[in-house]
Amino acid sequence: MRDLILDLDTGVDDSIALAYAALSPEVNLLGVTGTFGNVTTDAGARNALAVLEMMGRTDVPVFEGAYHSLDTESFSPHDVSIRIHGSNGTGNVEFPAAKRPVEKESAVDFLIRMMRSNENLTIVTTGPSTNLASVLLKAPDLSSWKGKVVIMGGALTVRGNVSHFAEANISQDSEAAKMVFESGLDVTMIGLDVTMRSRLRRSDADEWRSTGTKAGKDFAAMLEHYIDNTIGGDDTYVHDPSAVICAIHPEYFRLLDLPMTVELYGPDRGRTIGDELRILEKEPKTRAAVDVDSSRVEAELRIIADYFRSI
Ligand code: BDR
Ligand code: CA
Repeated sequence: MRDLILDLDTGVDDSIALAYAALSPEVNLLGVTGTFGNVTTDAGARNALAVLEMMGRTDVPVFEGAYHSLDTESFSPHDVSIRIHGSNGTGNVEFPAAKRPVEKESAVDFLIRMMRSNENLTIVTTGPSTNLASVLLKAPDLSSWKGKVVIMGGALTVRGNVSHFAEANISQDSEAAKMVFESGLDVTMIGLDVTMRSRLRRSDADEWRSTGTKAGKDFAAMLEHYIDNTIGGDDTYVHDPSAVICAIHPEYFRLLDLPMTVELYGPDRGRTIGDELRILEKEPKTRAAVDVDSSRVEAELRIIADYFRSI
């Protein structure tokens, strides 16, 4: 059983990652912190509350965090995010609204409180790294925190998905990602290198729908929207759920120890890359996943179908 906090910009794959974490018997889900990215922060938090309710997990608190990146004053979702995740973040499928509100405490204060009291915690981020960077700005001593961070973001051995070099989550706040990678925190990067090797399929949507449950049908329609607007064939990538799965089962992944940084200038702004200035470090605190046993990742996600069958 692993203590987890998920930091989400709750769009489609974040919702699937959250469903997985909420259902896994191996996860003790302590909270969800919300950020901007696929949708605005408040819309993402609403989606997280709705998904938790669909999974029967109204015990998990949801907190709102950063509303925009460190170097901007405001945020509105990009056209490509609206196309891929729908204008509501859940593939234009209207999930039943949750009956409870977000917590009053801010995501950053919640993270600081939890990090101070728990060094066995893993924080999984599946959106921009802004909340975590804000923690480090507000409580710099937490750079020596002994817990773990798993980031869905970046691309080391493959091209980016926003530019040739930049992946979406890193691109949304490159300064924040650089701060987190260079902070001294224990960070595992789950980038496009591995998330594009695993797949969710139309057959998964068919199976969810065939359970006849409202939640199964809604999740099926959401996944089909995502498949249509990403690869467009029979399947799609497993971005955000891969990070949650790695937090519990790192043995499914091949991890390369590397002092990571993020390029901030030039055409490769947003590129996640080894930092040549720290390349001789004996025990780097950061690592990047470069390969994955995709059959194990895909098998993990079957707990979602099992849940829809059980309700
Ligand atoms: C990442 O970008 C977002 O669109 C997804 O939710 C995922 O976190 C993939 O590049
Ligand atoms: Ca995401």
